[in-house]
Amino acid sequence: EQPTVYVTRQIPDAGLELLEESCELHVWDGKLPPSKDHIIERLAELEADGLLCLLSDDIDGEVMDASPNLDVVSTFSVGYDHVNIDDAEERGIAVGHTPGVLSETTADFAWALLMTTARRTVEGQEYVLDGEWETWGPKLLTGPDVHGATLGVIGLGNIGAAVARRAGGFGMEVLYADVGPNEEAEAELAAAGVDVTYVDQNELLDHSDFVTLHVPLFESTHHLISEAELRRMKEGAILINTSRGPIVDTDALDTALSEGWIERAGLDVTDPEPLPADHEITRHVPERLVVTPHIASASIGTRNKMATMAAENLLAGVAGEDLPNSALDDRS
Ligand code: GLV
Ligand code: GLV
Repeated sequence: EQPTVYVTRQIPDAGLELLEESCELHVWDGKLPPSKDHIIERLAELEADGLLCLLSDDIDGEVMDASPNLDVVSTFSVGYDHVNIDDAEERGIAVGHTPGVLSETTADFAWALLMTTARRTVEGQEYVLDGEWETWGPKLLTGPDVHGATLGVIGLGNIGAAVARRAGGFGMEVLYADVGPNEEAEAELAAAGVDVTYVDQNELLDHSDFVTLHVPLFESTHHLISEAELRRMKEGAILINTSRGPIVDTDALDTALSEGWIERAGLDVTDPEPLPADHEITRHVPERLVVTPHIASASIGTRNKMATMAAENLLAGVAGEDLPNSALDDRS
């Protein structure tokens, strides 16, 4: 008998086709996520062996208990803060995620936000469309240089290191902060001609022209960037967040942008998420803030790889095998 799996959204075909080969596949067809109650109901009806979820689903012990047969929760994301790992471990349920495949794509996007906030491309476009472009201006839409500036990377994991590597091409000095030095990443970066220096977070905030966040969301990283940290940053500094919204205290950022503690921010993740268009922080767009809808990993190739990887984790889990990418093993 084939294992039964429930998938909470239409993921790219590469993943669904893989599951179809050996599973009884049920896929939620909505554009928005199914409610938690609906996931529970479906897992119970199907007595599902596996659940493939997204970062927009909240998966805790209550959900896991819905099916007596559940062996594995596989998330279509590298981040797994939306899955209660302790609840899974207590129940002997495996948890899969998608590290590595999206690191370079996400790093590209962190740079897209960095470049666009520094050099004011979104503002520039609005200026043109508003009919304000009457002549070339010696002081029009000037911003800080990116090349030669100091980049502060908070969290030198796979993604942070990929962001740091790109800084070499811009002749930047790179500082990084983390729970401890990452000597392996430092050596790889040095071999690529990029010197990175491990500093404590305060020193990084004091000296960086750009601060980019690449830590997972844990209790210990919730509001890692709050009032004290924003006040500490340089006045002309730019903050980039492509990690998780709650790493930054949104109210504090709002005040920081209003009062000019920092120059600008680029956010691909927000708190709340999704960010309502009329949320008060959007009044800073586009002069002080550029915001995008959590799309840093959204290259076509990478989303296909994530689908395949999430499917492979799920298949291993329902077969009772070790997952190729287990969040329980990768948890730091
Ligand atoms: C995206 O944010 C992910 O965690 O994959
Ligand atoms: C995991 O942290 C990754 O960057 O892939």
